[in-house]
Amino acid sequence: MAEPVLEMTAITKRFPGVTALDGVDLTLHAGEVHALMGENGAGKSTLMKILGGVYRKDEGRMLLRGQEIELNGPRHAMDIGIAVVHQELMLCNNLTVAENLFLPDTAHRMPLSAFGWKALYARAQALFDDLGIPLDPRATTADLTIARRQMVEIARTISRDIRILVLDEPTSSLSEEDTAFLFLLVDRLRSKGVSIVFISHRLKEVFQIADRLTVLRDGKKVGTYKSSDLTQESLVTLMVGRNVDLGQRVTGTVGDRLLEVQGLTRRGAFADVSFQVRAGEIVGLAGLVGAGRTEVARAIVGADPVDAGQILVAGKPAQIRSPADATRNGVALVPEDRKRDGLVLEATVANNASMVIMRALQRFGLVRKRELTEVVRDYVKQLNVRTPSLDQEVQYLSGGNQQKVVIAKWLAVKPKVLILDEPTRGIDVGAKAEIYAIMRRLAQEGHAILMISSELPEILALSNRVLVMAEGRLVGELVGDAATEERIMALCHLPHLTTAG
Ligand SMILES: Nc1ncnc2c1ncn2[C@@H]1O[C@H](COP(=O)(O)OP(=O)(O)OP(=O)(O)O)[C@@H](O)[C@H]1O
Ligand SMILES: [Mg+2]
Repeated sequence: MAEPVLEMTAITKRFPGVTALDGVDLTLHAGEVHALMGENGAGKSTLMKILGGVYRKDEGRMLLRGQEIELNGPRHAMDIGIAVVHQELMLCNNLTVAENLFLPDTAHRMPLSAFGWKALYARAQALFDDLGIPLDPRATTADLTIARRQMVEIARTISRDIRILVLDEPTSSLSEEDTAFLFLLVDRLRSKGVSIVFISHRLKEVFQIADRLTVLRDGKKVGTYKSSDLTQESLVTLMVGRNVDLGQRVTGTVGDRLLEVQGLTRRGAFADVSFQVRAGEIVGLAGLVGAGRTEVARAIVGADPVDAGQILVAGKPAQIRSPADATRNGVALVPEDRKRDGLVLEATVANNASMVIMRALQRFGLVRKRELTEVVRDYVKQLNVRTPSLDQEVQYLSGGNQQKVVIAKWLAVKPKVLILDEPTRGIDVGAKAEIYAIMRRLAQEGHAILMISSELPEILALSNRVLVMAEGRLVGELVGDAATEERIMALCHLPHLTTAG
């Protein structure tokens, strides 16, 4: 067998209160896609940050084509052909796409002449054309969706001469189409002999793309396997140490209309959206990325203004002009971009988790901080948030565990109407099952739940009813067993079919 491209042996990394990695080995061959699997906090990102020169290892060795390497920073890693697209995007938001693409190359050459800018944009355009990426190099990065920002990151790495590419949860915010497109890029790189490390919590796509996989649990290596030797079930057992049951769709009786949306319109985003969600229901909101689902959710909770339409909560018209108004009316949104909207990174787990609850319950005048901490502690435990203590700053938690903290705090508030936007993005399979169970329990207790998700299996496993949006409009509704993957997908693409025909 050919010499491995990379050998990491007995890698150990400790943080205060946590051993993130404990003697982990990883071997990469040329032209393989190697999935790195494990629950939230298992150590995947930490291992890749060591490979990418972001963190220094405490112990262990790294051999690149048989030669020992000691990295002294991300730039060094890039120079010897190791590129990492991190889980947390590292783009500068106020720059244009093209600037982001060629940073830091452009940084030391600034300011550019008009000619220089033109050349920069042309170079970016050529790269996009070559990769078939539909992006405008002149767009400001902050205005892009998460999916587009992700593409810029990937293009950025592909534009350099690299031998090892790490993709740390690149697909968690991508649509099925964008994911398929990314996999084409990955295939091209693989056939050129590039080694790719791929991290994802979506098991189906892992089996689609990975040749081999390495499983981590609690900072230790469980083993390395050929993906053809495993099934989804056996992989879950290796990661979690037990079987996981994602449960059944709720079918209980439904009650009053807790949320009613009538003719809601926000110009440029969505138009004439009307639907209701009843007590005891979980309603799934499906659609392609960009269909307007997140925009509708934001408008309902007053995060964005609307041009027309009204919202009724429990049968009464509600004046919702801000998320605080929404919370007062018993309507809450667990946002999609939780990093930006949901967390104070410098605050502790306990403070983040209790912040909203304090505000939400203060009006009853009976809040006791100790009780709240109890509720929060309970959810943190149920969702298996891996943290040395509730006093740990959220910024030091793994990506998935940060997500769990946001979800925990809203679940604990128990609003009448709970809207969740991509609730399990980046969350491991064990915690997913817990979140589903809590959602079902809330519905059974008489709450109304609206869930936006791009994962159809998740929509189907949870929803009594599925609404489908396409191009800013509600295009269909499927009740109970009438909801199937095929029917939902057909509706998602409906406007294209009708306009093309
Ligand atoms: N800078 C840091 N300071 C303190 N602890 C850290 C730091 N970075 C990571 N950790 C801890 O190390 C452990 C491993 O985290 P890591 O980010 O590698 O997990 P992961 O496998 O990538 O999880 P996820 O699937 O949630 O992204 C976690 O317990 C995390 O809280
Ligand atoms: Mg991670």
